[in-house]
Amino acid sequence: MMNLNMSLTFTASVMVMLWSTTVLSSYVASQVAATTSATTLSLEREAKALLESGWWSNYSNDTLRRCNWTGISCNDAGSVTKIYPPSASIKVGDKFKNMDFSCFLNLAFLSLGGHELNGTTEDFVFNIGNLSTITHLDLSNNSLYGRLSPRLGNLTQLEFLDFSYNQYIAGSIPSEFGNLKNLAILNLTGNRLQKPFPSSFYLLTHLTHLHMSSNQLLGSIPLKLGNLKSLMTLDLSNNFLDGSIPSTLFQLSNLVTIDLSYNKLVGQLTNLNRLTKLEKLLLGFNRINGSIPSKIGDLKTLLALSIHSNFLEGSIPEEIGNLKALVSLDLSQNQLSGPIPPQIGNCFNLEELNLSNNNLQGLIPNQIRKLSLLDQVDLRNNDFSSVVPYNLYGTKYHYVNSSFYKKHDEVYGGNKNLTSYSCSPLKKNCNLPISLPITIFVAFFLFGCLLQLLLWRYKVKVNPTSVLQATKNGGCLFQLLLWRYKVKVNPTSLLQAIKNGDLFSIWNYDGKIAYEDIIASTDDFDIRYCIGTGGYGSVYRAQLPSGRVVALKKLHHLEAEEPAVDKSFRNEIKFLTDVRHRNIVKLHGYCLHKRCMFLIYEYMERGSLFFMLSDDVQAVELDWTKRVNIIKSTANALSYLHFECTSIMVHRDISSNNILLNSDLEAFVSDFGTARIIDPDSSNETRLVGTYGYVAPELAYTMVVTEKCDVYSFGVLALETLVGKHPAEILSLLSAPSSLQNIMLIDVLDPRLSPPTCQLVAQNIVHVATIAFACSQADPNLRPTMKHVSQMFLSCQRSLRNPLRTISLLQLVNCGMHMEGSYQAPQC
Ligand SMILES: *[C@@H]1O[C@H](CO)[C@@H](O)[C@H](O)[C@H]1NC(C)=O
Ligand SMILES: *[C@@H]1O[C@H](CO)[C@@H](O)[C@H](O)[C@H]1NC(C)=O
Ligand SMILES: *[C@@H]1O[C@H](CO)[C@@H](O)[C@H](O)[C@H]1NC(C)=O
Ligand SMILES: *[C@@H]1O[C@H](CO)[C@@H](O)[C@H](O)[C@H]1NC(C)=O
Ligand SMILES: *[C@@H]1O[C@H](CO)[C@@H](O)[C@H](O)[C@H]1NC(C)=O
Ligand SMILES: *[C@@H]1O[C@H](CO)[C@@H](O)[C@H](O)[C@H]1NC(C)=O
Ligand SMILES: *[C@@H]1O[C@H](CO)[C@@H](O)[C@H](O)[C@H]1NC(C)=O
Ligand SMILES: *[C@@H]1O[C@H](CO)[C@@H](O)[C@H](O)[C@H]1NC(C)=O
Ligand SMILES: *[C@@H]1O[C@H](CO)[C@@H](O)[C@H](O)[C@H]1NC(C)=O
Ligand SMILES: *[C@@H]1O[C@H](CO)[C@@H](O)[C@H](O)[C@H]1NC(C)=O
Ligand SMILES: *[C@@H]1O[C@H](CO)[C@@H](O)[C@H](O)[C@H]1NC(C)=O
Ligand SMILES: *[C@@H]1O[C@H](CO)[C@@H](O)[C@H](O)[C@H]1NC(C)=O
Repeated sequence: MMNLNMSLTFTASVMVMLWSTTVLSSYVASQVAATTSATTLSLEREAKALLESGWWSNYSNDTLRRCNWTGISCNDAGSVTKIYPPSASIKVGDKFKNMDFSCFLNLAFLSLGGHELNGTTEDFVFNIGNLSTITHLDLSNNSLYGRLSPRLGNLTQLEFLDFSYNQYIAGSIPSEFGNLKNLAILNLTGNRLQKPFPSSFYLLTHLTHLHMSSNQLLGSIPLKLGNLKSLMTLDLSNNFLDGSIPSTLFQLSNLVTIDLSYNKLVGQLTNLNRLTKLEKLLLGFNRINGSIPSKIGDLKTLLALSIHSNFLEGSIPEEIGNLKALVSLDLSQNQLSGPIPPQIGNCFNLEELNLSNNNLQGLIPNQIRKLSLLDQVDLRNNDFSSVVPYNLYGTKYHYVNSSFYKKHDEVYGGNKNLTSYSCSPLKKNCNLPISLPITIFVAFFLFGCLLQLLLWRYKVKVNPTSVLQATKNGGCLFQLLLWRYKVKVNPTSLLQAIKNGDLFSIWNYDGKIAYEDIIASTDDFDIRYCIGTGGYGSVYRAQLPSGRVVALKKLHHLEAEEPAVDKSFRNEIKFLTDVRHRNIVKLHGYCLHKRCMFLIYEYMERGSLFFMLSDDVQAVELDWTKRVNIIKSTANALSYLHFECTSIMVHRDISSNNILLNSDLEAFVSDFGTARIIDPDSSNETRLVGTYGYVAPELAYTMVVTEKCDVYSFGVLALETLVGKHPAEILSLLSAPSSLQNIMLIDVLDPRLSPPTCQLVAQNIVHVATIAFACSQADPNLRPTMKHVSQMFLSCQRSLRNPLRTISLLQLVNCGMHMEGSYQAPQC
């Protein structure tokens, strides 16, 4: 019995188990079916919603392919995740309300910028307000109006919210925005919002980009903005914000862009040093006063600094030179005074510089010439006393056409004391082609006698030794020469001058030049006689009583006190007294006195080679033969400097600006301000000098000057003379020579001249081009010496093997590589 009972119980249990398993499995199956049908149903609802929206009716009604429609993306299950109809081809406009957004259970991305949507934000948010999945909402550039709906605060997944450019969205930001904990980007630009931020706003600690420019925001920027620790971009420009810039803002070390321009903010710039990632600091058109802190130099990543139209006072700190990345600097329209710090020359990425409308004074520093990328310079309406360094034009001018030059003329105007503003800036000066070797010989070796003569002449009694000592203390290598004619000076003051290390020396030319003639012929350096500006100083044309015309290069009062300028000026005297070559300018005299420093050269009628090449009419006058001769003359002059003097002299600034032309268009090398003697016993390390675009590449990293640096500059100059403008493009291709294969020499020659017809001229051009390429090689060891170059010019040339039009630049480059050791240019 017991067994039966047990077996019955067992059977019953099994049956119950079986039953329940069956029931369970059928339940599960029905559930799965229900889920599947729910999925299918929801997909169908999505398709229906898309179809009924009418948004795509022009394109296709084939909802099976809806995931392929323009502006629709789906997940793997085929459910729509993104809706972004392109406004150019699909205009949603009034059809917006036809879309049933509640059907899209997986929609994360809705972008309807520029769709002519018209309605209140409330309407729109009501429509889409239940989409808790949405992360990206763009309703920018529509015609929405009213207040920002508080319901937006329900879209708690939002990371990107863009209501910019709706023009009529007004009021304030609802406090519900504080719920948008994931928000990273908020763009409300171009509306009519009036109140900045509710207190809940500072909970948005993930916010990286906040754009609220071009609204009507009033009041001050709250201190609590400092809570938004992730902020990278803050743009509150073009509003009516007043009060001071909160110091907490400058603690947000992730900031990359700060744009507070065009408000009414007051305060001063302090505590900038935390902003270690800042690239743009735009504070123009506010009421910021005080000075620019030197800490500004800590913003090493800064690309754009604009504080124009404020009330900044004081001078521009020299730390501005630490901003090596800076591309744009606008400090215009302030009350800045003092000089432009020369350190600005270290901002070598600078493209735009606007310092106009301030009270800046003093010299425009030569260091500006180093800024090779500088494209827009506005220095108008200041009190600069010096002229614009002409290389400021020169450097850029190689890359910009002549309309730019006019632009420059404008932008330097309005400086009351910018004396040579009305001058033509590119004419330069030169000297008499008369050398006085004997005088100089006498000067160097018979100093004692001359000094006696001087003393005798003025009948003063001084101890000659003390005068000699004074002269030596002045650091001058030069001996005092006499002006024997016409000079009326007070001997006592002369001797005082000598004691101070000042020197006056005019090497007589036919006994016809005297200090007083120079003063008289220029009306004491009146602006009417100014013909241009140099790297420093101004150049005057003076017609002496004899009828002879000379050029005078005179330093400005303040320039003369600048050690670097003074050094360069004395350097020019030192070199030009030592060298004598028919293609090098010769100094005719000088005055070195702290009141008046000038050099005397002969007047060079045609100005610089650069000047001629940049003028379309004058460039044509420089025909092929004249151009070849200019290159040959320059080569001879450099060969002389490198090989025929007792020491190796390197010019270091060969450029078309420094090749001057006389009335016969003969070339003369000028401007020895940076020239240097190579000392075989020293490393010859140097700071980088020269003109951008001509400086040998190795100087950038070795800083060791050799005569091969001049060879490189010569190569560039020679190419420039053939091509008619700076050959930057061709030079840039030299690193990948194969690209030169398809460039024919004839196609790069100056198009303003007709191609050479005469065989000999063509041959000369090929010859010059070959040498130019050889000289422009990146490896200084591969460049020929100038001696070699001038000898190749002297040697008779082989005639061209191929017609000119078939010669490619690649051929010339290859030829140039094989000219070593030969005194004939290889046959190309
Ligand atoms: C779409 O259709 C409307 C009329 O239904 C027409 O005016 C419009 O030009 C069409 N747009 C395109 C892109 O075909
Ligand atoms: C799509 O359907 C609508 C209404 O069903 C119709 O008016 C329209 O012509 C259709 N468009 C195309 C391209 O078939
Ligand atoms: C979507 O379009 C692409 C080409 O644009 C096509 O290759 C693909 O088959 C289409 N898919 C569907 C489901 O229509
Ligand atoms: C606004 O949309 C229009 C077309 O609807 C477009 O032309 C314009 O560029 C857009 N403006 C902005 C700021 O996106
Ligand atoms: C928007 O709609 C209102 C009324 O519905 C109308 O008055 C207004 O002109 C419309 N705005 C635009 C830009 O279409
Ligand atoms: C959103 O949800 C609310 C209630 O949860 C409902 O009243 C409203 O109709 C829904 N909106 C849409 C567009 O479905
Ligand atoms: C949205 O948030 C408001 C409060 O801001 C709340 O009353 C409402 O129920 C939420 N849900 C919907 C669907 O609007
Ligand atoms: C709004 O700002 C965001 C973030 O900078 C940007 O991606 C978006 O294009 C802006 N919107 C408009 C219409 O410019
Ligand atoms: C700056 O302006 C404020 C008022 O806006 C004034 O109190 C303060 O003295 C000014 N500071 C300087 C240095 O001019
Ligand atoms: C320089 O700034 C002034 C005043 O802020 C402005 O008028 C001028 O146009 C600017 N110059 C250039 C070249 O942009
Ligand atoms: C000069 O450059 C400007 C801007 O690059 C250009 O518009 C103009 O045509 C150029 N003029 C000449 C003479 O090349
Ligand atoms: C400008 O020149 C005038 C007259 O020569 C002089 O009185 C004035 O002090 C000069 N101004 C400056 C800033 O050098």
